[in-house]
Amino acid sequence: MEYHNKEVKAAEVALKKLFADSEDKRAILRSPELAALFDRLKMLPAGKARADFGREVNALKQELEQMVREAAQPKAEVSAIDVTAPFDANTPADSRPSLLPMEGGSQHPVTQELKVILDIFSRMGFTAVESREIDDDYHMFTSLNFPPDHPARDEYDTFTTDEGLLAPAHTSIMQNRFLKAHKKDLAKGQAISAVVPGRVFRNEDLDARHEHTFYQLEGIYVDKGINAGHLIATLKTFLEEYYGQSLEVKTQPFYFPFTEPSFEFALSCPFCAKKGCQVCSYTGWIELLGCGMIHPNVLKEAGIDAQTYTGFAWGMGIERLVMMKYGIEDVRLFESANLKFLRQFS
Ligand code: DAH
Repeated sequence: MEYHNKEVKAAEVALKKLFADSEDKRAILRSPELAALFDRLKMLPAGKARADFGREVNALKQELEQMVREAAQPKAEVSAIDVTAPFDANTPADSRPSLLPMEGGSQHPVTQELKVILDIFSRMGFTAVESREIDDDYHMFTSLNFPPDHPARDEYDTFTTDEGLLAPAHTSIMQNRFLKAHKKDLAKGQAISAVVPGRVFRNEDLDARHEHTFYQLEGIYVDKGINAGHLIATLKTFLEEYYGQSLEVKTQPFYFPFTEPSFEFALSCPFCAKKGCQVCSYTGWIELLGCGMIHPNVLKEAGIDAQTYTGFAWGMGIERLVMMKYGIEDVRLFESANLKFLRQFS
């Protein structure tokens, strides 16, 4: 409101300044400046001047009361900012991406299939132990019989931290740990047996068959009198159960520092029963995994007597197994978060 009376105008300026400066906003209504205006009103003779002055003084008092009421109002609630939101916090509510309803979600195909795989191995007597996603040179190489500077290390080029830790390039990093932890079972006449699922990382040139991040399943079995026949029978039994059909398998000599002998293991194509199709590149066979008899140096490094005990091990890519089950042609789909792909498994 605009005040015309000089005295009221001067009081308005003084009172509003006082209001802005004081902590107790209500105090303005008891201030001597306001009281002085009412004293002055009482002293004026009746007439138009008194009426005009009285109207302005009352208006000023009401304006101050309104200011006090507003100051006492609680501040409007400001909604909390979600600092993890995948959009700019200042994005207006109506143009933010909406959250997908949880009921519409489903497990990733690798998770679903891993459950099936672990169930089969658990029925075959294998314990499951999780691998890890950060490790050191000892478990990645030294404990697995890689001599320092051996060229075989190049096959496992991966991501490293400045401190020299690395993102494991294979689940074999768990061999030394598991063998050490369970060697006492051997003395009690029990075999050591485990499957080890885990995420692994590689410095790869990416294409339909190669990813920088994927899942592997390691297998370890040690006891007295174990030979390559046990290895082949174990893998064949698993694969026939997983694909629900009889399969042929074959091995070819290969090289891994941690097995001797080492094999590349192939199975007849579960997609075309060896007739030849895109999945097996029209050869009828699919090279699936690496395996072999655990090198005596690996057993010794874990404190196991390699004269008395022998064992086998393997490492297989889980996406590879799943791709063959469903005829998936590109491994990159698994890490793509492509909903069209994922919804086929929901
Ligand atoms: N770690 C090997 C790789 O990722 C796979 C492998 C081969 C694992 C032979 C084993 C094994 O345990 O015995 O290429």
